[in-house]
Amino acid sequence: MDLRGILDEIAAEMATRSERGAPASYIPELARVDPGQFGIAVVTADGRDHAAGDADAAFSIQSVSKVFTLALALGKLGDRLWTRVGREPSGLAFNSILQLEHEKGRPRNPFINSGAIVTTDAILEGSTPRETLGAILRFIREAAEDDAIHIDKAVARSETAHGHGNFALAHYIKAHGNLRHAPELTLGTYFHQCAIAMSCRQLARAGRFLVNAPTLPRLVSAERVRRINALMMTCGHYDGSGEFAFRVGLPGKSGVGGGILAVAPGKAAIAVWSPGLNARGNSALGTEAMEMLARRTGWSVFG
Ligand code: DON
Repeated sequence: MDLRGILDEIAAEMATRSERGAPASYIPELARVDPGQFGIAVVTADGRDHAAGDADAAFSIQSVSKVFTLALALGKLGDRLWTRVGREPSGLAFNSILQLEHEKGRPRNPFINSGAIVTTDAILEGSTPRETLGAILRFIREAAEDDAIHIDKAVARSETAHGHGNFALAHYIKAHGNLRHAPELTLGTYFHQCAIAMSCRQLARAGRFLVNAPTLPRLVSAERVRRINALMMTCGHYDGSGEFAFRVGLPGKSGVGGGILAVAPGKAAIAVWSPGLNARGNSALGTEAMEMLARRTGWSVFG
């Protein structure tokens, strides 16, 4: 398969698009990003990477970070994490507060904001926010084998200053006894993890541990990888998860920075980035590019 050729074709096709969606506006620092950019990178089971477009431009990974914090939280707490957060799709927007009242402060899954806040709160247990961020960054750097990966402090500051929705979620969870730390501490950690900056090439490399290939680095057990992939498939795109499964057929996790990490089990880790979002807060061209790639490679978990 001429993967390089396929990626070049996808990048060329995306460069012609005038309808590109709009970058996230509720985090002012992200609203300034040029929507004309598009990058794609793939690491195959033989360890080789292939890339096209702006694959080396750094972007804010935002909610894609939740895959790495979930892996860390499961490493630290094991199945005890599931007493605090569920494993069902929410069918609602990533920042919704609606179900929290009905479900008494136990978020539906670790990928919606409320669930990711609880997951980060779980990793914080016994450490300071600085140590916890160090552990998150170490995990991602080790996964990508790249020590240059860093936190974009301007993005973290920008979100902290405008993060009233997340403060509402954290306080509400705290009111139900499901947050162990002060909302400022947990959210300070959460905003900084979301502000980690990576390129598509770095993100695809960091996603290699999810491929479950004997040739690629393994940071967590094969069984745990399967579970993380299941959650990415069912919850990774929030209320757009069904559509992503239908169109792409691979587990994927999106972020409002416009990045998506997807996994073709046994075959490849894929990262795409384009800052313009669709109505559900997922990258518009990124989703299209994933669909094109899946169709041309035949990669799908559905046969
Ligand atoms: O908490 C937030 O709203 C952001 N830091 C992350 C949200 C996000 O990336 C949703 N993904 N599409």
